[in-house]
Amino acid sequence: MSTDFLVIGAGVAGLSFALRAARHGTVTVLSKGTLYQSNTAWAQGGIAIVLPEPERDAGDSVESHVADTLDAGAGLCQEQVVREIVAQGSATIDDLTSYGVGFDRVDGHFQLGKEGGHSHRRVLHTRDTTGLEVARGLIETAKQHPNITLLENHFAIDLITTSRLGAVADDRVLGAYVLDATANEVRVLRSDRVVLATGGCGKVYLYTTNPDSATGDGVAMAWRAGAAIANMEFIQFHPTCFYNPGATGPEARSFLVSEAVRGEGGVLINARGEDFTLKSDPRGSLAPRDIVARAIDRELKKTGAPCVFLDVTHRPKGFMKERFPYIYQNLLDFGLDCEKQPIPVVPAAHYQCGGVVARVNGRTAISGLYAIGEVACTGLHGANRLASNSLLEGNVMARLAVEDMMRRFPPGKRPPEPPPVPPWEAGNAAVPDELVVIYHNWDEIRRLMWDYVSIVRTDNRLRRAAARLRNLEKEVREFYWGHRVNTDILELRNLVDTASLVVECAVRRKESRGLHFTLDHPSASDRFLVDTVVRKF
Ligand code: FAD
Ligand code: SIN
Repeated sequence: MSTDFLVIGAGVAGLSFALRAARHGTVTVLSKGTLYQSNTAWAQGGIAIVLPEPERDAGDSVESHVADTLDAGAGLCQEQVVREIVAQGSATIDDLTSYGVGFDRVDGHFQLGKEGGHSHRRVLHTRDTTGLEVARGLIETAKQHPNITLLENHFAIDLITTSRLGAVADDRVLGAYVLDATANEVRVLRSDRVVLATGGCGKVYLYTTNPDSATGDGVAMAWRAGAAIANMEFIQFHPTCFYNPGATGPEARSFLVSEAVRGEGGVLINARGEDFTLKSDPRGSLAPRDIVARAIDRELKKTGAPCVFLDVTHRPKGFMKERFPYIYQNLLDFGLDCEKQPIPVVPAAHYQCGGVVARVNGRTAISGLYAIGEVACTGLHGANRLASNSLLEGNVMARLAVEDMMRRFPPGKRPPEPPPVPPWEAGNAAVPDELVVIYHNWDEIRRLMWDYVSIVRTDNRLRRAAARLRNLEKEVREFYWGHRVNTDILELRNLVDTASLVVECAVRRKESRGLHFTLDHPSASDRFLVDTVVRKF
């Protein structure tokens, strides 16, 4: 199979790209699960946008949004990239509304929410299920487009590049090996323009807000293909996931309670009713996420309590049900009426600030390969992402990527004939029957990352994690080469590679900055005012 544009990922980044690129040629979009299984579809709070005057909050400006983003990023943002993305907020809203995405309005004006680290109200939203509305608009429009083919349950295994086929000069992408999980068959998908839009890696951790699909596949594939990966130590932990004491598994413990709830007056308190976050930052519950998550971690360790609480009981009756109907109902389903009781919450892994090194238009060092959205590391987020900046990032990067690709690789302009791409070699490998090995290793990776590489780190814990991951990596590699592939093996392989990259980056950063905090080097150091960049070869 061949296509003008191959897009791996059907979230906000992949689909925004596909809808633009389809004006210029055929587009094939892969989703490893169903189209709605993405971080995008789970987004709650909204999209941070500075609207044109007079629609914006009084006193807000693009400059102010830029300043908040830089402040959250703790010295590692690329200011030019921040400016380019933030300045395109209005264009993003125009783009999304053109696909039928609706945002909440009051008296005809956009209703603006607030989240941690933002100095103004500037978060456009659709109640508390903004991502679902964005996904719906994009998916439904893409389904109607004659140039777009949407392939669900198609799992990209690895990128195909000229260097992997033995050509040394001019490394460029040629497509991907893709497992059609329904037919249980691996195919070559040829394209000279490949976009990685695979999202993040929350599932590397035991407790996460992310859906099961977030296994770091894009970072792992790009790393194996020789692309540069940066800043993987900066994993963002969201401060407020519902903590359900009756839950037996990790998943039930980790249901997100949007930061927008704090934007509407929710306050974090301990069991004694004290607002402990004020000790860490005068902005209290609405400080940037790294600060709030660390304050919670400290409080939990100090008191031995299993959770802290998010209190919204002071809000007028009916407010939560009206403004946050999804969260309100989910809590009620767990037996908790948040209008009467504070919500028990804990932090959980939420967002990957690092990723495949890319320019703001997604261009990577491998010719024809672009990385956009959460999988990319552009310099927008630095050491910590500002809330609600990523739906924006996904859409803006997608539009810039199409422009760049049309300048450099327009369909019709044929690059030199590549070496022949060999078909996938399934060999004589047996169908995996020892599923227990996969599940055991999967659990072990997620548990060790949670215990050794989460909100607070030490040199010793990182060393332990690295040693254990080296063994697991060897075991997983043997398993991968010894068996016919399925999605479980493929995800495990990506999980171990991605976890190793997080640890490798964390080991190199001997300071504390943004989301990377280590007891052995508790201060920031100018020596580390640079990205942590790693490459396989
Ligand atoms: P995703 O939306 O995650 O899409 C990834 C796609 O890649 C999926 O289609 C997946 O199937 C596909 N894929 C992955 N690997 C493979 C593979 N090997 N083969 C084929 N396909 C593959 N951000 C905000 O800005 N505002 C918010 O309010 C907000 N709330 C959030 C709430 C939650 C609970 C979560 C988890 C995140 C939230 N975020 C929010 C972050 C934001 O949702 C994500 O960063 C963003 O949606 C990522 O978009 P994406 O297109 O890069 O990736
Ligand atoms: C939230 O709604 O709290 C998530 C927002 C984000 O991650 O940007």
